[in-house]
Amino acid sequence: MTLDPQDWTATRALAHRALNDMFDWLIAAPNRPVWEQMPAEKRAELRLPLPRTGTDLATLYDDFQRLVLPYGAGNEHPRFMGWVNGGGTAAGILAELLVAIFNPNCGGRDHAAIEVERQVIAWAAEAVGFPKQAGGVLITGSSMANMVALLVARRAALGPSVRAQGVDGAGLRAYCSQAAHGCIPRAMDMAGLGTDALRVIPFDARQRMDTAALRAAITADRAAGLRPFLVVGTAGSVDIGAFDDLAEIAAIATAENIWFHVDGAFGATASFSAKFRPLLAGIEKADSLAFDFHKWVQAPYDAGCVLVRDRALQLDTFAQSLAYLEKSTRGIAGNAPWPRDMGPDLSREFRALKVWMTLRAYGADGIGDMVEQCCDVAQHLAARIARENTLELLAPVALNIVCFRAATGAADLNALNQDIVADLQEAGIAAPSTTTIDGKLAIRAGIFNHRSTRADADALVDGALEMVRRRQ
Ligand SMILES: Cc1ncc(COP(=O)(O)O)c(C=O)c1O
Repeated sequence: MTLDPQDWTATRALAHRALNDMFDWLIAAPNRPVWEQMPAEKRAELRLPLPRTGTDLATLYDDFQRLVLPYGAGNEHPRFMGWVNGGGTAAGILAELLVAIFNPNCGGRDHAAIEVERQVIAWAAEAVGFPKQAGGVLITGSSMANMVALLVARRAALGPSVRAQGVDGAGLRAYCSQAAHGCIPRAMDMAGLGTDALRVIPFDARQRMDTAALRAAITADRAAGLRPFLVVGTAGSVDIGAFDDLAEIAAIATAENIWFHVDGAFGATASFSAKFRPLLAGIEKADSLAFDFHKWVQAPYDAGCVLVRDRALQLDTFAQSLAYLEKSTRGIAGNAPWPRDMGPDLSREFRALKVWMTLRAYGADGIGDMVEQCCDVAQHLAARIARENTLELLAPVALNIVCFRAATGAADLNALNQDIVADLQEAGIAAPSTTTIDGKLAIRAGIFNHRSTRADADALVDGALEMVRRRQ
């Protein structure tokens, strides 16, 4: 028995119909609400016992249209401004379609998909000023990319024995700023180092790491007999888009002989723009970098990336010899080293194609222009907020994230602003998210979608003001 259709013609027609429908859906995005909550009865319809027999694909497609498609998070929509979400592109769509049919396993071996990934890693290295021969691998996202880098840093600090003996009692200590993403402590936890071994360094008024405090913390740990091994600089903090002084941190890391890693999840995308690239000065000195193509570069989910300056060290951290995966100098088992030698995954999807197509379709300069357009929308939004009496900015806008709040006479402004965000989302007007700045709940609008315009920023402000009025 094969699982191939008995009638390829009908399957082909269905696939064409689905593609047409999905293009219509995407093109119509600005004309529908950003988000619609999934009704309870539709959720219930998805709860089925394990199907014992098959259902024809046309029925499944109808179920997708009815039960899934209308209830997405909305990140394709120009007024989706919450969290850090890319909007997707035509190049990404085409790549994912091709990958779905081509379906290679990108753990390794001698085939073209591995070469495409190597090219993408080389382009990433070039974009941020890493050496051509840097190591790197595509991975789910920056959470895992940061984790991979941390493991290489751990291997660098403790030598090969760490792979057999673990970190027991080594006294390793890592450093990051208060603005670092939560995946950094999580990586410390998952790597067996523990979150207590991460020193969280305070930041200044612009939410940049206080480098004097970093130096002092390293000195104090050394005096206590501990082993500083890693400092993480943030290039684009998730709350407000702040950039640590990477050049200064690089100098400290060199002087202290510790690993310098940069989390540039979305901020590293600024390297494509001549205007914003200076924010990243010093990134080229890092030992490793984590960032995503699925955020501001707009590649479809998921497409994280880790780069490691010393490729041999990355291989030393992950390569493993297994009888059934033995490499060869001939045949399909050739072409070592493989992506599986540079990260934790063995079976891997062909993530590289969507990145390869995205970078070729729009070019590094096209991505840079899009970055500048998003930042222009953010500045427009900030200027508009500054003109409104009932609104106040809560943080400087260095890049594409605007944090503000309604500051009325209400007794509990945090509750009011939380409600405004939920009101906007539920009305489908716009989808900002929230964060907390100096104890104040902020409405956070991140302009990551290449479709967002100044008019969308105005719609967010008009909507927020309307919600304030309704609640007065
Ligand atoms: C600065 C920063 N680091 C790391 C991450 C985690 O990335 P991912 O969601 O791709 O795992 C994010 C997510 O928004 C982020 O903004």
